[in-house]
Amino acid sequence: MTTAASNPFTELDVLVSLITSSVDTIKSEYTQLNTSAALDLSLDSTEKHPLDLKAVPQTLQDALRTLQGSCAQLGNIVLPPAYTIATMSMSHFTAACLNVAVTTKVADHLLPSGAQGLHVKDLSKLTGIVPNKLSRVLRLLATKGCFKEVEPDVWANNRLSVTLLKDEPTSALVGLFTDEAYLSGTSLASTLTDPHYGPSLNLNEASWNRAMNFKGTLWDFYKDVDPARGKRLAEAQVGFSHVLTFESVLHGFPWSTLPDGTTICDLGGGFGHVSMHIAKACPQLRVVLQDQPSTVATAREYWNKSAAEVVEQGRVEFVDIDFIKEAPREGCDYYFIKNVVHDWPDHDVITILCNVKKSMKPTAKVLIHEFVMQHASSDPHSEDAFLNKAPKPLLPSYGEGRVLQYYLDVGMMGVVNAKERTFSEFKAIGKEVGLELEKQVRPKLIASLSSFRTPPLLYHAQVSLRVQSYCF
Ligand SMILES: C[S@@+](CC[C@H](N)C(=O)[O-])C[C@H]1O[C@@H](n2cnc3c(N)ncnc32)[C@H](O)[C@@H]1O
Repeated sequence: MTTAASNPFTELDVLVSLITSSVDTIKSEYTQLNTSAALDLSLDSTEKHPLDLKAVPQTLQDALRTLQGSCAQLGNIVLPPAYTIATMSMSHFTAACLNVAVTTKVADHLLPSGAQGLHVKDLSKLTGIVPNKLSRVLRLLATKGCFKEVEPDVWANNRLSVTLLKDEPTSALVGLFTDEAYLSGTSLASTLTDPHYGPSLNLNEASWNRAMNFKGTLWDFYKDVDPARGKRLAEAQVGFSHVLTFESVLHGFPWSTLPDGTTICDLGGGFGHVSMHIAKACPQLRVVLQDQPSTVATAREYWNKSAAEVVEQGRVEFVDIDFIKEAPREGCDYYFIKNVVHDWPDHDVITILCNVKKSMKPTAKVLIHEFVMQHASSDPHSEDAFLNKAPKPLLPSYGEGRVLQYYLDVGMMGVVNAKERTFSEFKAIGKEVGLELEKQVRPKLIASLSSFRTPPLLYHAQVSLRVQSYCF
């Protein structure tokens, strides 16, 4: 291979060939998967795509993240660095404008006018934002691919903006990310450099607390100050499972082969959206949904509406818990803990898992469903090295191809001093608690195909821990 010094275009050429080969793979995979319905890859389409919520094959997932990573890296190589960094520095305005759009329900207001669109003067009356400012907010979003300017100042929905409709679970997720998480970013630098707050791992000393001047934790805020935002958090989890495609959770573990009467405790389960789908698909399984009282109350309504048959069959129980203070329901076969561990610093995760362990019979297992983080460098001797699958010259983590989990990691730090973890970190926590890593279900990149243009690519894994012979 020619060196970069003798051929300055080497990296560029390799990235272009990665783009070409990933596009070829994507086309062939789409063709194979999309046997029954017409495939419309236009961003103008507002119809749900047949593949949006489907678990897709590993080959397609790899091709999607390679494409996203390569396109971004190509731009970084050829564009002037000052331009790239200046653009990056202003990217929070994308979040700010998305927040304006969900707060004022722009997508819902545009729905009746369909593809012909609505003039900003009319949209202004429905949103309460003056026309000129509203159009400028939407123009930034349209520049990023969300909403369509049909003709000057006439706005319509498109494939991305329909995810912001108020009844779409993604809109609650956007609300959470562009509000609590966004706010935490505004004081991240001053928090990290503060002698007291910087090193703190207390939940109530995160940058969100400084931004809000709130002394309690975010959880206290939801419970005591703003239950509506607390409810939105639970709705956002449903949205998040759409981003991750809950079908991947359904197919990523052999739920259907578990014996009759197997009980799954969905701990910190929120509305129990995922365990609900598991229970619907597997009539031999029982679910014990445990969460804080207010969330459990809403979860009960949610199941009554969306899974009445499971409720009537008595296959689900709703049980309040404070998992920091109490052990969950004793004697369940699986303790399914999804996107909970990343909400807590290590010492609290250890407390939660110790409480779980108290309830575990010897055959019970803990299933942790979380992102698995990777370093941006590659150490072939590290026990995390098996994750480094990205083709060079991409970062081992695929760079932009997995950026969402890095956003979330810093977001968790910002709102509650918590984190996403590496494989070694999961293992170390299990060891601390006396839970042995039994196996790691093949780490999955779970791609929601809600946007083929800019596919959100995620890296998720189920880590299965089982109790060792000694107990706390
Ligand atoms: C990020 S959500 C995950 C929800 C769900 N597992 C999912 O993936 O959709 C975290 C959940 O932990 C719950 N939670 C927070 N603190 C808790 C506590 N002390 N005891 C029980 N549940 C708690 C929240 O109410 C919330 O439902």
